[in-house]
Amino acid sequence: MDLFTNPQEKIRELTDNINRHNYNYYVLANPTISDYEFDMLLKELEALESQYPQFRLPDSPTLRVGGQITKEFPAFVHIRPMLSLGNSYSEEDLKDFDTQCTKLAEGRTFSYHLEHKFDGVSMSLHYEKGLLIRAVTRGDGVQGDEVTANVKTIRTVPLRLKGKSIPDFVEVRGEVMMLRTEFDKWNEERALNGEDRLMNPRNATAGSLKLQNSEEVAKRPLTFFAYQIATDEVNALTDFENVEKFKEWGFKTSGNQALCKNMEDVLGYIHQWEQKRYALEYDIDGIVIKVNEIAMRDFMGYTAKAPRWAIAFKYPAEKATTEIDYINFQVGRTGKVTPVANLKPVLLAGTVVKRASIHNADEIERLGLHTGDTVYIEKGGEIIPKITGVVLEKRLPDSQPVAFITNCPDCGATLVRPEKEVNFFCPNEQACPPQIKGKIEHFSHRKAMNIDGLGTEIISQLVDKNLIRNYGDLYSLQYESLVKLEKFGDLSARNLLKALENSKQIPFDRVLFALGIRHVGAVAAKKLARHFGSLEAIREATAETLTNVKDVGETMANTIVAFFLEEENVLILENLKKAGLCFRQDIEEDTANTMTDDSLAGKSFVISGVFAHASREAIKEKIESRGGEVKSGITKKVTYLLAGNDAGPSKVEKAKELGVTIISEEELLKMLQ
Ligand code: IVH
Repeated sequence: MDLFTNPQEKIRELTDNINRHNYNYYVLANPTISDYEFDMLLKELEALESQYPQFRLPDSPTLRVGGQITKEFPAFVHIRPMLSLGNSYSEEDLKDFDTQCTKLAEGRTFSYHLEHKFDGVSMSLHYEKGLLIRAVTRGDGVQGDEVTANVKTIRTVPLRLKGKSIPDFVEVRGEVMMLRTEFDKWNEERALNGEDRLMNPRNATAGSLKLQNSEEVAKRPLTFFAYQIATDEVNALTDFENVEKFKEWGFKTSGNQALCKNMEDVLGYIHQWEQKRYALEYDIDGIVIKVNEIAMRDFMGYTAKAPRWAIAFKYPAEKATTEIDYINFQVGRTGKVTPVANLKPVLLAGTVVKRASIHNADEIERLGLHTGDTVYIEKGGEIIPKITGVVLEKRLPDSQPVAFITNCPDCGATLVRPEKEVNFFCPNEQACPPQIKGKIEHFSHRKAMNIDGLGTEIISQLVDKNLIRNYGDLYSLQYESLVKLEKFGDLSARNLLKALENSKQIPFDRVLFALGIRHVGAVAAKKLARHFGSLEAIREATAETLTNVKDVGETMANTIVAFFLEEENVLILENLKKAGLCFRQDIEEDTANTMTDDSLAGKSFVISGVFAHASREAIKEKIESRGGEVKSGITKKVTYLLAGNDAGPSKVEKAKELGVTIISEEELLKMLQ
């Protein structure tokens, strides 16, 4: 910013600019600047906002990154109830609906507006003078939860409506979703971090919206499709025109709606999408058929539960029956054992299905599976088809109930089922081939040690030929043994050795992640690396000191401690250290990379009272931007009570009682300098 620009104006300009680029990128899928340029604009705005917090605008794109913590989502009674829709499953049902509508219309003409029935989580958005002021979940239809901070992180939800005709108040309803590819990518990342995969985009969306930390929500690939204006005064003459309005205001719409004059057209559209829906980038579970003319809707009215002018057509879940060939049990990197049914190939929802996961032992029991059973398989929102039942009439006379194995199919160890777990595990972590291979694969992953050329097949050969027993042995591999591998030659061997050598430059936090300690994902590894500075310090930490790190819970702390207690791991780590891997956080590199100031890291604050120089929110942000934490209640673990004017007497008292240092605003400012 040059000296002559007014900061308030500059903030407005940047806000508008960034919001426009956001819209181009996420709604139009047509970015006009590079990611780098975008980041620079955002950084500039962030810097200005932290310098002039009083000028931060309510539609600031910096809200998209979240940061607000919500302990409990307040209930909100909907202005008008969010009704459900009647369901229909056949042409017959639809014809009945049409007859009913025609009767209700009393001779007047009307048409139908058809849309995909988005399979996500419905959401009501309130805009006042064009600004998003509130987002409420459907709840029980009468009242829902206010999840505004979380919804503000969704890039396709406009924070301020665009266009000319902005109403004083409008309620826009629609569906929050995850696109299939984005969900898959995100699920992959979860798996990589040792977290469980989520079933389908809908569950993942619902879970995301309930997270207490909006910064976490911001990382989820959520999107929003608008489908209804729920404010009478604002509606256009037809629903179809409302969609135009959505586009003008900056919403994303699916672009796949249709206007139908009669039932024949309606059925045509339904048939058209029956198979095509599998190629969509989002999940739908049917088609919504709505009367298009808004005045006609009012005329037709409502039942207690649903509008009389709309109905949902549900596509039958694609079902098929097929025979189980055999069941095998797969062992993953963490030792988890998953039963998989191998099926006689069958066509289902556009793809040939040969396998279905049965999840765990409980599921085998629930289904009552026998060997050779003919089963029903279904593809709902899930990617992997599931077995939903057994065709008992086709059960073979000599079949036996499927028993869960007691020993590991790969190494023979006796399986264990930890308390409260639905899964069986192979405890032979260090010697069970799929676990060893899985761990090495994780170690060499692009996001961990990034060892190019060390794919699944090569790892398999290396382990099977006893050339390595764990990732600690990788660095002593010799050229002579590598060239002898199948499908490997001089060049591949050299390249792999080079990649191994290069990986010694990988920073400590990624090395820590590469170790594959259960529950320690890439983000947690970064936090641990920063907090402790070296592997030695983490190794010496107790479960209690580990939980002092933000986002490290008891489970993770315990697995970390257990990891370092394992003698074999200690030996592996020694090998890695000898090989020259980075076991220490390079402070300079860390700060240069992130340009952050962590001077308050490890310190926690409780803020109470009113302050002369900044709002509480601004102070909180300042503290957090320096790595400090802001808590709501005084406990022994809190470092400082920041007391302004009229600080709560009970807080001051408790701080004194527990020996928590009380500081003033001036003292905090000094610390920040
Ligand atoms: S119009 C009654 N259009 O379906 C209100 N609803 O079963 C009229 N839904 O909870 C709603 N896609 O969240 C409408 N294109 C669409 C929709 C849609 C999904 C959901 C909606 C509602 C449920 C009703």
